[in-house]
Amino acid sequence: MKIAVLYGGISGEREVSLASGNGIMNALKQKGHDVVGIDFNPYKLDEIIKLEVDLVFIGLHGKYGEDGRIQGLLDMLNIPYVGSGVLASALAMDKAKAKNIFEMNHIPVAKSNVFRLTNKMDITTIVQEIENSFTLPFVIKPNREGSTLGLSIIQDKSDITQAVQNALSSDDTILAEDFIKGRELTVPVLGEVGHEKALPIIEIIPKNAFYDYESKYAPGGSEHIVPAPMDDSLAKQIQEYAVLAHQSLGCEIYSRVDFILSENNTPIILEVNTLPGMTPTSLFPDSAKAVHMSYEEMVDTFVTLSLK
Ligand code: DAL
Ligand code: MG
Repeated sequence: MKIAVLYGGISGEREVSLASGNGIMNALKQKGHDVVGIDFNPYKLDEIIKLEVDLVFIGLHGKYGEDGRIQGLLDMLNIPYVGSGVLASALAMDKAKAKNIFEMNHIPVAKSNVFRLTNKMDITTIVQEIENSFTLPFVIKPNREGSTLGLSIIQDKSDITQAVQNALSSDDTILAEDFIKGRELTVPVLGEVGHEKALPIIEIIPKNAFYDYESKYAPGGSEHIVPAPMDDSLAKQIQEYAVLAHQSLGCEIYSRVDFILSENNTPIILEVNTLPGMTPTSLFPDSAKAVHMSYEEMVDTFVTLSLK
């Protein structure tokens, strides 16, 4: 099958996507596909059309790649692609909107407020409102970003202004959110629409104070424990939440759902990643391995499911 892999791109997660794209391309080649890699920017659309591929594998992350925009372009061109469509991608990328949907589905979320930079709501007003509404420690992050880019954990109120500015450099909308102390967990979800299953839960033990960019991508930056040690009943509940979160946004084929398990054992959902990392240090492939699915088989399963 002739497959174009889109990678790189123009988001803040470009470097991550270069590594994901490399892994995906190698896996598809090993499975015997005719693979064309495209370091994607909007001018490459012509190239995709001319290639007359059977399928596009979106190996992009973040803005324009994971947020429904490239999905919309491919829909208009009638070119099939792997994974979630326009609406699910856009919703999952928008943490505030996704959290509203999770709450409607009774999946526990951390308390948060969303702030959009406007003429009326300037940086000083945002900082003031955050200071009045949150008690230390709390999190400030861009509403639509990945890989913890632009995220700060506020331990001291004098750091709020800098954190707001950092978050606003990724997105005009930011979230302030309660910091949940607990265990960092993630759950891959895989399957045809309506028949999705959760893969084993991974517990992440970062070397740094939290699972930041360096812990995510530096070799040895964090330890992954699969399956995460816990009671079967709790694991089952978290896996059910993961599948429900995936379905509630209308995701397709695969996603990875991130949680914090609070100190009183409540799983708090953080977000759904519709194009989770596929790098050598990434989580989804590690969980697949635990059920004896190699990286190559995992990528080929995404392809097979996408064409059903
Ligand atoms: N946003 C990164 C790629 C992830 O969730 O794995
Ligand atoms: Mg993410």
